[in-house]
Amino acid sequence: MAGPAPQEPVKSQQKCIANFALLCCLAVLVALIFSSVNIWEDVEEDITEDNCSRDCRIELVENIPEHLSFHADGSPRFPLSAGFHALLDQARYSVEMVSPVWDLNAWDVEAKQGQLLFQRLLRLVSRGVKLKIVSSLTNSAELKTLAEHNAEVHFINMTALTRGGLHSSFWIVDRKHIYIGSAGMDWRSLFKRKELGVMVFNCSCLALDLHRVFLFYWQLHDKDYIPSIWSKRVTALYGRHDGLEMQLNSSQAVAYVSTSPERFCPKYRTKDLDAIHQVIQSAKTFIFISVTDYLPLLSWPYRGTTVTRYWSPIDEMIREAAVLRGVRVRLLISFWRRTHPLTFNFVTSLRSLCTQLINCSIEVKFFGHKEHSDDLQHGLNHNKYMVTDNAVYIGNHNWVGIDFALSAGVGLVVKMKNSVAEGEVTIVEHVRAAFERDWRSPYSKSLHGNRDGHGKFRNLNQMYTEIHEGK
Ligand SMILES: *[C@@H]1O[C@H](CO)[C@@H](O)[C@H](O)[C@H]1NC(C)=O
Ligand SMILES: *[C@@H]1O[C@H](CO)[C@@H](O)[C@H](O)[C@H]1NC(C)=O
Ligand SMILES: *[C@@H]1O[C@H](CO)[C@@H](O)[C@H](O)[C@H]1NC(C)=O
Ligand SMILES: *[C@@H]1O[C@H](CO)[C@@H](O)[C@H](O)[C@H]1NC(C)=O
Ligand SMILES: *[C@@H]1O[C@H](CO)[C@@H](O)[C@H](O)[C@H]1NC(C)=O
Repeated sequence: MAGPAPQEPVKSQQKCIANFALLCCLAVLVALIFSSVNIWEDVEEDITEDNCSRDCRIELVENIPEHLSFHADGSPRFPLSAGFHALLDQARYSVEMVSPVWDLNAWDVEAKQGQLLFQRLLRLVSRGVKLKIVSSLTNSAELKTLAEHNAEVHFINMTALTRGGLHSSFWIVDRKHIYIGSAGMDWRSLFKRKELGVMVFNCSCLALDLHRVFLFYWQLHDKDYIPSIWSKRVTALYGRHDGLEMQLNSSQAVAYVSTSPERFCPKYRTKDLDAIHQVIQSAKTFIFISVTDYLPLLSWPYRGTTVTRYWSPIDEMIREAAVLRGVRVRLLISFWRRTHPLTFNFVTSLRSLCTQLINCSIEVKFFGHKEHSDDLQHGLNHNKYMVTDNAVYIGNHNWVGIDFALSAGVGLVVKMKNSVAEGEVTIVEHVRAAFERDWRSPYSKSLHGNRDGHGKFRNLNQMYTEIHEGK
């Protein structure tokens, strides 16, 4: 029953002072962090998420190499290079770009489209449009030239940050129009590689959100660590639980931007893998996937050797959709010199899952062609997307564990609402048509044929060996 000890008030006073000091320190620290993270002088700040535009126009853009011939209706509705120029036509104030590669200006007769685009960018900056670029390249002559012409280039050291690569490929023009897709600033993307992406015009809501991803990269300039506290200005505006409700042409849709790796996802930002999960889960009748590489493995260099682990998330999602929900799955994978040999084993395993099951279908085809096999990139299907009966996911990564785990990339999810306008062909249908064109083309070959399955399988392996050993 003793009363309070006499020292106690003094103690609590000390505690109070200590707490106060701690709070002050914290406040100063937070202020410091925020100020270091918040440098962004701006002209287009007057559009906010409250009054941005959600009445947008979307365009599917593709590059189809000239020497690939598809059936009559196979030509792209909107060629990629025309799309890039259309986007730059809109630029009045700013162009923000991220690309894994800068190789537009090569001295190659085939690089004409690339050179034109590069000249276009130079003219743009000389006209006073701000050009901001984020890159992980230290030694790019093109970036140096652009910087000499007043482009601002920020370097991010992916090796120091995640040990991955920068695969992100997107543009934001005037904080109103965007591009996301498989093509980077590489003349090959405009000439000899098969690419697919989308441009969304008049869409400041989506552009504001993608700009926040850009801002995240921008502030990693020359840093060798990822700050653990971020300014609110990089917080995601939309995500898988609260996508942007918008109008795409005349149809109602929901969209959001996802990113990877996980450490590049600030508050509320949906991870690429979760976006893919959501799109697969909401598919009702089919899932069509077109990627350069598909491999449920995670390998990384460690002390001079390579450590490899099984990486199952996407494989699991596909298995569940096909076996438990009866959703038809088609995988179109590129067949090229860098195709990992185990790819064939893993997709064979996927396919065999449907053995003796009615209402289960997993089909796999390899896209490739033999001519010019001395050139790795020639005619390569560089696409990285998935389309289902109600949504598309267009990303920057191959579906390989290490990409999602360590490398930077973005994805765009567009899900159509039920009320599609009368007579309107939606972006989902356009992407589906592009997929089916590729799937039915002579360049896509099944792993097993109809009856003489073994023969075809061997042929594919032979072809694989030829390409790998023959150079
Ligand atoms: C949008 O809202 C912001 C702040 O709420 C305001 O400053 C700005 O003028 C508005 N812009 C337009 C175009 O209405
Ligand atoms: C990037 O980071 C790595 C690892 O910290 C370092 O060795 C390398 O020098 C850095 N590169 C540049 C260009 O700063
Ligand atoms: C964007 O909207 C404006 C005004 O609503 C319109 O004049 C313009 O043509 C649109 N731009 C594109 C590329 O659709
Ligand atoms: C196949 O699965 C779908 C989705 O569960 C279902 O709607 C359909 O009726 C099934 N068809 C057959 C033939 O079982
Ligand atoms: C949206 O409308 C534009 C014309 O305004 C058209 O070029 C484009 O192909 C349309 N997009 C889709 C997905 O139909």
